[in-house]
Amino acid sequence: MQLKDFAIERYFAKYEFNAKYMLSSSDCDGFSMAEVLGLASEAEKNDWLNLKLGYTETRGSIPLRKAIQKHYQNIELDEILVTSPGEANFVLMNVLLSKGDEVVCMAPMYQSLYQIAKDIGCTLKLWEPRESNGAWAYSMADVENLISKNTQLVVVNFPHNPTGFSPNLEEYKMLIDICRNNDVYVFSDEMYRFLDHTPGPSLPSMSDLYEKSISLWGTSKTFGLAGLRIGWLTSKDKTVLQRVENFKDYLSICSSAPSEILATIALNNLDYFLKRNLNKIQQNIVLFSKFQSKFTNLLDFAPPSTSSTAFIKLHLNGSAEDFAQKLVEEKGIMILPSEAFEYGNTHARIGFGRENFPEVLAVLEDFLNDNSY
Ligand SMILES: Cc1ncc(COP(=O)(O)O)c(C=O)c1O
Repeated sequence: MQLKDFAIERYFAKYEFNAKYMLSSSDCDGFSMAEVLGLASEAEKNDWLNLKLGYTETRGSIPLRKAIQKHYQNIELDEILVTSPGEANFVLMNVLLSKGDEVVCMAPMYQSLYQIAKDIGCTLKLWEPRESNGAWAYSMADVENLISKNTQLVVVNFPHNPTGFSPNLEEYKMLIDICRNNDVYVFSDEMYRFLDHTPGPSLPSMSDLYEKSISLWGTSKTFGLAGLRIGWLTSKDKTVLQRVENFKDYLSICSSAPSEILATIALNNLDYFLKRNLNKIQQNIVLFSKFQSKFTNLLDFAPPSTSSTAFIKLHLNGSAEDFAQKLVEEKGIMILPSEAFEYGNTHARIGFGRENFPEVLAVLEDFLNDNSY
């Protein structure tokens, strides 16, 4: 299979480690290893100090899977498979899909969630959102119309990158009923799980509610621990997980042993990470709302209800990509244009998870004023 280049990742590769400011990152600032280790229980400290750097279990260590299991209602240890998020996605698509299959997926979306299916030779049907004054919504009636008896897989991502959309519980259950009635698999990317901006319970994992779903979560977004490269699939469908495990033998085989221990500590202290990340995200959303009120002619924005990103509409004479290019060249601010999502040329993603967000906004404001936007 020939895979098309991953536009978002190529864009980040160009700027992430040399542009002065990042305004579109979807993860929160990375935590230091000292801080993570500072949260360890005595037993975890002992595991860390005595760690042998051999292979680990392909499915993930038992302490890690136990720490993962705590955050699900109904998932057993043998219904969890640890793997990096990108690998999980790649393998799952290869295990579930064949040329000619029909796949329903959200648009815009993180490219690997549809590109692999496309390059396998599947037919994609796009579930597109409605946009109104910067607010985004995906309609359950629309997805119902897209799913047919030929649909093999539905791919969803809530909280959604880039729009920050999540359905409410009633809509979520409606979606599950639609999928169950059509007997289709669902791949539910839950990488931004628990990043809810309003009090109240988060959506349950799809894998807790629907027997033909496979959910993905990991440490990159919710925790601010992208460098661990740890993610995991959860599913009631043990056959699918076994097939993913068999495929994984040809890729990473198992995860990094130090990362597994650090991820275990993080999962056992979820609230610590959530509180810090959500505070930052919420404060930055307030700042961005104020900022937007000064530039209403240029950009549409409505605060998202979940996640660490928003997808703003830009009212420009040129394209979002040209705007992004000028911004990074003149002020060193990297902003991700919608072209990288293959979703037109009038939007850009904003990321709220960074400490220096106020400083970046000040530089952006100068840029907009200097250029009379
Ligand atoms: C929706 C979604 N899924 C999966 C991933 C992959 O996560 P990771 O970067 O940890 O591999 C990302 C990363 O941006 C994402 O936004």
